Amino acid sequence: MLADIIVDLQYGDCGKGKIASHLCKINDYTHVIRYNGGCNAGHTIYHNGEKIITHHIPCGVLHGIKSIIGPGCVLNVDQFFKEIDELESIGINTKNLIKIASNVHIITDFHLIQDSKDTEIGTTKRGNGPAYRDKYDRKGMLALEMPMLAEYIIDIYDELHQSSEFEEVKILFEGAQGFGLDVDWGDYPFVTSSHCTVGSAILNGVPPQCIRDVWGVAKIYETYVGAKEFQGIDPELDEIREIGQEFGATTGRPRQTNWLDLDLLIKASKINGVSKMVINKVDVLEKVDFWKMYEGPHALEFRNSKDMQGHIEHALKTNMPQMEVFFSGNKEKI
Ligand code: IMP
Ligand code: MG
Repeated sequence: MLADIIVDLQYGDCGKGKIASHLCKINDYTHVIRYNGGCNAGHTIYHNGEKIITHHIPCGVLHGIKSIIGPGCVLNVDQFFKEIDELESIGINTKNLIKIASNVHIITDFHLIQDSKDTEIGTTKRGNGPAYRDKYDRKGMLALEMPMLAEYIIDIYDELHQSSEFEEVKILFEGAQGFGLDVDWGDYPFVTSSHCTVGSAILNGVPPQCIRDVWGVAKIYETYVGAKEFQGIDPELDEIREIGQEFGATTGRPRQTNWLDLDLLIKASKINGVSKMVINKVDVLEKVDFWKMYEGPHALEFRNSKDMQGHIEHALKTNMPQMEVFFSGNKEKI
């Protein structure tokens, strides 16, 4: 067995979907597995010229790869069927490709009502927190209890460890949210209710020895959506929001913007054991033509893209010499 894991190193929305699609094209994965979160996530994917936003369903399905919603996830059944209809309506075959681990927990109407009352965290109001609360309170409902999901349900142990369907199981793990929103590592309580690190991927049934690469995904600036104060004071940060189209894929909320926090990036990389790093949206800063980031207590300004990229890469490699670092514009391939 072999597994590559994608982790977002900031606050979500760093372009995991783009990297996942790219990796699906260049590798012969047998499975793509979503390892955490629910339909609070919104993954924007450009496929054959069409823009698609998926919330639950891993991008593997766009590439004809078996796509599993793993046991670390929570699932809204109506949203799941809506996404299947949307994918089918633009000609993507989902038949026999999408599976749900039997032990995924269900987001109920009651969870949605409860989450709709949130005023403190600024949640996506998709029932995520209450569903995980009930999971850990051992009051949750499992996917295998839902008759309408019967044809999608699999036992993930059988699928990954016992099946003779594949000579070698090769998995791409696709995460949701990001390190800064992780329930343990984020800025609690302004976090989501699941784990957004490599540890979370392993919880979905894969032994750690199987990990090949950990793909860390970040942006060259930061965005965050939620109730805490995050927006920086420089007017260029508003430009970044407009040029970078930084509005929530799930809720449409404007994302707060700030400069890259290099210390957070290094911390997230070390904790996740990142071997390959993609820093996205460099083209947005190029259009704004302003180069700034934070390192420790210092705000650093650079003359141009090259100088800033050089500084980031040097700092990352000083901390993690084996890491490969890629800088990438908005829609281009890495
Ligand atoms: P929840 O996950 O809906 O409970 O929201 C908790 C926090 O995580 C809020 O600040 C949300 O805006 C944020 N959040 C949840 N999912 C995403 C995502 O996919 N992208 C960015 N922020 C997210
Ligand atoms: Mg997103």
